[in-house]
Amino acid sequence: MTASSSGAAVELQDVSVRYRVPHERYFSFKEFAIRWLQRRVEYVDFWALRDVCLEVQPGEAVGVIGVNGAGKSTLLRTVARVLHPAEGRVVVRGSIAPMLELGTGFHSELTGRENVFLYGSLLGYTSQQIEEMYESILAFSGLEEFIDAPLRTYSTGMVARLGFAVATARYADIFLVDEVLSVGDEAFQRKCIQRIESYRRQGATILFVSHSMGTVQEICQRVVWLDGGQVMQQGAPEDIIPAYLRGTDGSG
Ligand SMILES: Nc1ncnc2c1ncn2[C@@H]1O[C@H](COP(=O)(O)OP(=O)(O)O)[C@@H](O)[C@H]1O
Ligand SMILES: [Mg+2]
Repeated sequence: MTASSSGAAVELQDVSVRYRVPHERYFSFKEFAIRWLQRRVEYVDFWALRDVCLEVQPGEAVGVIGVNGAGKSTLLRTVARVLHPAEGRVVVRGSIAPMLELGTGFHSELTGRENVFLYGSLLGYTSQQIEEMYESILAFSGLEEFIDAPLRTYSTGMVARLGFAVATARYADIFLVDEVLSVGDEAFQRKCIQRIESYRRQGATILFVSHSMGTVQEICQRVVWLDGGQVMQQGAPEDIIPAYLRGTDGSG
């Protein structure tokens, strides 16, 4: 495998990602711990991605579609370097703003305000930078009234608002969006899509996972269809989305 000179923002070369799953069922953590200490836990490998090749150019928005369990979140976690591929190579050029599973990086006992600082620092901002962005984060989230309440009192939609507001407070080279928009209301989704679009026009790269084919079609220039951890097809949304919908009967 040679180092690439393509200048792609995100590049996956024959990437395979494996989860190790304990082979047997354990009925308690204690039982698992004892077996683990005895080195008697057996694992089976589950390949969530297999030989995935993908190149995303700077300024391109690519949709990742597929049924539940297809490997979409695994793909985004791998690009975010939360997971490391067992095989193949991942090249990422630029800063990443990850919006992965809902609530990642949040703490339910802390207030909204405290979570802005916690999540912001996880995204690599200094507390001074977060101070400077705080008012605009709050305004975008629309959560002024609730910001001093603990996060456990928030609805999932409110958590998503806060997460999106923090993660997109500043330009990043690469935005990873994993289904976080689907829990927001229509008006907030619009606002998020506009923000993603404006960053893309400034040159940001977007990897966008969604079950809303309308939104994928609207945002993305290209679509990758994953199934069983493999790329089924990739190409223009108007070609791939109908093929995907025919292939799945719209289920999943
Ligand atoms: N932490 C994990 N441990 C074991 N298996 C996992 C883990 N996360 C995901 N998987 C499995 O990997 C496959 C792909 O999952 P995922 O990437 O979350 O799919 P998608 O986001 O497309 O629904 C699924 O079969 C899922 O059960
Ligand atoms: Mg997922």
